Amino acid sequence: MKIVTIIGARPQFIKAASVSKVFRKKGIEEFILHTGQHYDSEMSGIFFKELDLKSPDLNLHIHGGLHGQQTGRMLEAIENVLLQEKPDRVLVYGDTNSTLAGALAASKLHIPLDHVEAGMRCFNKKTPEEVNRVLTDHLSTLLFSPTTTATYNLKQEGLGEDHIKEVGDVMYDAVLHFKPLAAAKEESILDLLKLQKKSYYLATIHRAENTNTPKLLIEIFRAFETLSKDVPIVLPLHPRTKEKIESLNITTKNITIINPVGYLDMLWLTHYASLVLTDSGGLQKESYFAGVPCLTLRDETEWIELIEAGWNKLIPVTKNLTDVLPVYVNEMITNTPKGQLFLYGKGDASEKIVDCIISQ
Ligand code: UD1
Ligand code: UDP
Repeated sequence: MKIVTIIGARPQFIKAASVSKVFRKKGIEEFILHTGQHYDSEMSGIFFKELDLKSPDLNLHIHGGLHGQQTGRMLEAIENVLLQEKPDRVLVYGDTNSTLAGALAASKLHIPLDHVEAGMRCFNKKTPEEVNRVLTDHLSTLLFSPTTTATYNLKQEGLGEDHIKEVGDVMYDAVLHFKPLAAAKEESILDLLKLQKKSYYLATIHRAENTNTPKLLIEIFRAFETLSKDVPIVLPLHPRTKEKIESLNITTKNITIINPVGYLDMLWLTHYASLVLTDSGGLQKESYFAGVPCLTLRDETEWIELIEAGWNKLIPVTKNLTDVLPVYVNEMITNTPKGQLFLYGKGDASEKIVDCIISQ
């Protein structure tokens, strides 16, 4: 059996690292096709090195541009690669433009398509990710759902139960596997940044809905500036956000802004933060895995079980964020739930995915 895995953005390298390891263990041939969507070494290369993910067999170097242009260019190039490689199945992850382009190319060529992280919904089609997810799920053969909510969403959309495989979340597998490696790193990122354990907040911001509207982005950074007068905020800066804050001349002098870090340093920063402030999908769960409360600066989230369990709270970005954020931060830190639930499987999602693919 030959699989073509299509990835292109940071979170997909982390997810694929878990599954790819199992493909290798079970002797399955995997061709890794990198679309090139993310390309800086700290957004791409570092993950292949650190997470022992084999180098891409091919990188298409397609990035930037408007959504239609980016996705269209990827579709055309992926189709050629699939015609040449003739895989038995194609595997895609998550909800990026690389996911959708891969899904369209495979399904037009009638190659069975499998989707990891199927069924996630925020029910807001104005976000590019929701469009990518819904379309990819409706083109997929195997729908690897991470949660009971995702499974429910797929059934609600009439997707056949035979195709839905609730396996848990590969990001939980990744945390379990890579945390010991993060702990074993000789040089601690906390020492480098002169941070004390549990005495800083970790923040990331990159979503289109927050970065594309100047007044929202300005308000987010004003709120962070204010908060960080009391407690340091460390913010590994996504290149998209970097471009925007530079062009808008947004002040960040109180915030510890750093370049994007590798996954091991990110796990460590998350583990020892006292709170996470983010609009990332993946980081919402990683903060829960680390037992750290999270405030999500978005109107909605796909990972609603964390909201229900009290580990995460949605804070829509409004013009008075600077006034309300400190209140939410205090509330969240004071009322952090104690126990952890097994909301994302048992850490064997990758094994289940590969076994299921092999049995087709
Ligand atoms: C993409 C995904 C988003 C995901 C995120 C993970 C889509 C529609 N969005 O958003 O769902 O949460 O990745 O991080 O697929 N850039 C660089 N260097 C890089 C990568 C990006 O400079 O290595 C800059 C470029 O100016 C680029 C911009 O960031 O145009 C946006 O990158 P893009 O991949 O289009 O979207 P993301 O915001 O990264
Ligand atoms: N991450 C990382 N370095 C960083 C910021 C994030 O390794 O500087 C990891 C983070 O731990 C998580 C993933 O990248 O595993 C999340 O990616 P991102 O927030 O870019 O995308 P999303 O999950 O929102 O799609």
